[in-house]
Amino acid sequence: MPEKTLTITDNRTGQTYTVPIEDGTIRAMDLRQIKTGPEDFGLMTYDPAFMNTASCRSSITYIDGDRGILRYRGYPIEVLAERCTFLEVAYLLLFGELPTATELKHWVHDITHHTMLHEATKKFMEGFRYDSHPMGMFVSTVAALSSVYPEARDVHDPKNRMHQIVRLIGKVPSIAALSYRHNVGFPYVYPDNDLSYTENFMNMLWKMVEPKYVANPVLSRALDILFILHADHEQNCGTNAMRSVGSAQTDPYLSTASAASALAGPLHGGANEEVLKMLDEIGSKDHVPAYIKRVKDGQVKLMGFGHRIYKNYDPRAKIIKWSSEQVFQVTGRNPKLDIALELERIALEDDYFVKRKLYPNVDFYSGIMYQAMGFPPEMFTVLFAIARTAGWLAQWQELVTDPEQKIARPRQIYTGYNEREFVPMEKRAAASVPAR
Ligand code: SDX
Repeated sequence: MPEKTLTITDNRTGQTYTVPIEDGTIRAMDLRQIKTGPEDFGLMTYDPAFMNTASCRSSITYIDGDRGILRYRGYPIEVLAERCTFLEVAYLLLFGELPTATELKHWVHDITHHTMLHEATKKFMEGFRYDSHPMGMFVSTVAALSSVYPEARDVHDPKNRMHQIVRLIGKVPSIAALSYRHNVGFPYVYPDNDLSYTENFMNMLWKMVEPKYVANPVLSRALDILFILHADHEQNCGTNAMRSVGSAQTDPYLSTASAASALAGPLHGGANEEVLKMLDEIGSKDHVPAYIKRVKDGQVKLMGFGHRIYKNYDPRAKIIKWSSEQVFQVTGRNPKLDIALELERIALEDDYFVKRKLYPNVDFYSGIMYQAMGFPPEMFTVLFAIARTAGWLAQWQELVTDPEQKIARPRQIYTGYNEREFVPMEKRAAASVPAR
């Protein structure tokens, strides 16, 4: 068996170097020995957007983008979506194993008894305009919990970490529901501990004057499945933010708020809201060919399509498509589905998309389902964030306990000026910045 090494010849000096290959990678730091002389800093790698850079070792989620495979802790997403509840999967992500019946009972009890928010949180909410985007309210309020639980700063105490993790998983639906109720101008609804995680979320969103909220079981199950599908996705943009901020030993509330901020971007978790806007803009199946032309002309992106890792159909999109049929049997079919299906049909036959391996991703169908369930588009990314909080925290826990990790601090290729003389005010000319 040939040695697992890479031999590099630096043609500038004729020197050769041999570096070990481990897990399909070479260590970037092994390149620093490649110098043109003692003054040379040594070689670095340059990888904008980390297209080909592993930032960590992780055993949480495995994705095979070419084969459309997604597994949490080795279990295929299809099986987890069919057989588990979201809290069961959150336990799996955090502890590495599916819980026994007793472990799950205690886990559900702990999460359920941490859904209440400090009453001061309602004052944070009152500070937002009624029409504030709920994602802004969600991020700000999650960050504000850092001030409610200052002990969370002790990130090295395992018991304290788990206490904050349970608080965050318990409270993110309450914060999301508070944001929604603030938007619609309805009084806040307190958690109901008799209900499951998703039933209670629906209770806090939609309970009106009835003495006890009763969730439609098809819709609460659909929400459970959606939360399972969105729970983790290895080193995506939001998780990278969680790990980068968490690497400074920042508390989990501020780290989660940072991750949620990244998720809010339209290229990331904000895409589900953008898909609905796109479908509204298209308006009908007949207008799909014209929109596809605009995409191919580079004028617009086909939101909900494409993925950095999946070069095949996103397995989550398939499950959402299936689950939406169950929801539509309760809510009535969302007519936007017909536009989405036509978009997909045309795109999957068109060379522009086939050549670029662009397929529907998790965001393409989720919004249509959320809207049918009664969520406004601006709530879609908040729903994504509720579920992904479990994944972010599992990744954060892995980071904090990884002896190889330290504060994240990338290098750069400097392209600015060399040292230059200071220019006193009287000698500065207008528009003195030369075109470069
Ligand atoms: C999520 O990373 C994760 O795991 C994310 C996520 C998770 O669970 O955390 O899966 C959740 O964020 C899903 C992605 C949601 N975003 C969208 O649906 C927005 C639309 N998609 C694109 O912006 C894009 O596909 C990305 C951002 C998802 C991926 O971008 P990449 O990997 O940087 O790819 P790229 O932009 O370099 O595109 C490669 C080519 C380009 O064409 P050329 O320059 O080669 O001619 O494909 C084109 C792009 O223009 N392209 C698209 C397109 N996506 C890529 N063209 C039209 N419509 C699109 N949606």
